[in-house]
Amino acid sequence: MKKRYFIALAFFGAFSTQILAQDKKVDMAVLIEEQFANAAVQYKLLEKNVPDTMMPKTLNKLTGKVEVSNTKWWCSGFFPGSLLYIFEHTQDQEILRIAKKRLAIQEKEKHYTGNHDLGFMMFNPFGNAYRLFKNPADKTTIDTAAMSLITRYRPEIKSIQSWNKRPPFNCPVIIDNMMNLELLLWVSENGGDAKFREIAINHANSTIANHYRPDFSAFHVLDYDLSTGKLIAGKNHQGYNDASTWARGQAWGFYGFTMMYRFVKDERYLNQARNIIKFLMNHPNMPEDLIPYWDFNAPDIPNALRDASAASVLASGLLELSRYTKGKESKMYVEAARKIIVKLASDEYRAKQGENGGFVLMHGVGHLPAKSEVDVPLTYGDYYFLEAMHRYKNWILN
Ligand code: GLY
Repeated sequence: MKKRYFIALAFFGAFSTQILAQDKKVDMAVLIEEQFANAAVQYKLLEKNVPDTMMPKTLNKLTGKVEVSNTKWWCSGFFPGSLLYIFEHTQDQEILRIAKKRLAIQEKEKHYTGNHDLGFMMFNPFGNAYRLFKNPADKTTIDTAAMSLITRYRPEIKSIQSWNKRPPFNCPVIIDNMMNLELLLWVSENGGDAKFREIAINHANSTIANHYRPDFSAFHVLDYDLSTGKLIAGKNHQGYNDASTWARGQAWGFYGFTMMYRFVKDERYLNQARNIIKFLMNHPNMPEDLIPYWDFNAPDIPNALRDASAASVLASGLLELSRYTKGKESKMYVEAARKIIVKLASDEYRAKQGENGGFVLMHGVGHLPAKSEVDVPLTYGDYYFLEAMHRYKNWILN
């Protein structure tokens, strides 16, 4: 692993030149303040477009209406989670009122065991709520959600099963699952049982062993045979094909391993994150502005759609990785994140105020092969964009 890491370091040159070429005149403090103020206006509009018992999902481009989901949808936690970031940076009491209202309908899902998305659904909103208000009830919600998530742990494969058995998959484990490990690690670190941490570590280690190709690109889905514990195949459900590099999957993995290092301080996770980002940033199909195509192997590049949500996740992860690295390397991650934030904040990706159903960003790609949520706003695109600016403000500007 070490040798491979240093070989990859040799390719930093091209990446750093590209990053440093950006326009540095933007005042990030001013930009971030304006983005949060805009988000407050937008999310009050979004609130009006969503029934009280539901959560926003996306904008239907044909009808111009906001599509909604119930609270079991994997994205259900992003609306309250985003509202809390907006409140934190604007102190807007109406935003706080809406956040509390939406947290109240999400809380019951702490018992949900139907998939692996409890981290997204419960830790993003209630983790933010507990960080801000230290309400013990929110901690109980988080602890209960962690218990629900580990019901899906399968010791035979040392992994958490993502989705239930469904054709063509027997026991699917998807790269997105790296994100949900934060819930488990946080609970162990905050008075919970050590078993949550052990499960997260086992899952992350299985992911390194089986999910990544030698070039540090990841499959979206691994299919396991639970009766033998053997890996059946690596697939790309939401990507272009089974050999391709699906952009958001890479972003989930990158963010996930950086987060693993925060809690576990195992150099393997740090180097995994570094190697993933080097692979992506030096990929011949990474656009100059660092907003990835939805799949790095999409056949119609350079005309392929970009995925703003993958860019948001990368920006937030890059800022965290910059804290665990030094000197030129650390600076390069900050500059890459800054470049992404500035681009997403521009008219190209940020909707005009009062438009887009109330979502902040446009141009996310959900599941292109299924023709679902293509070139639309996505709740998680907004969430990680807000998180990236939260991190930039707290870690880089302060
Ligand atoms: N399956 C979660 C995602 O679309 O990233």
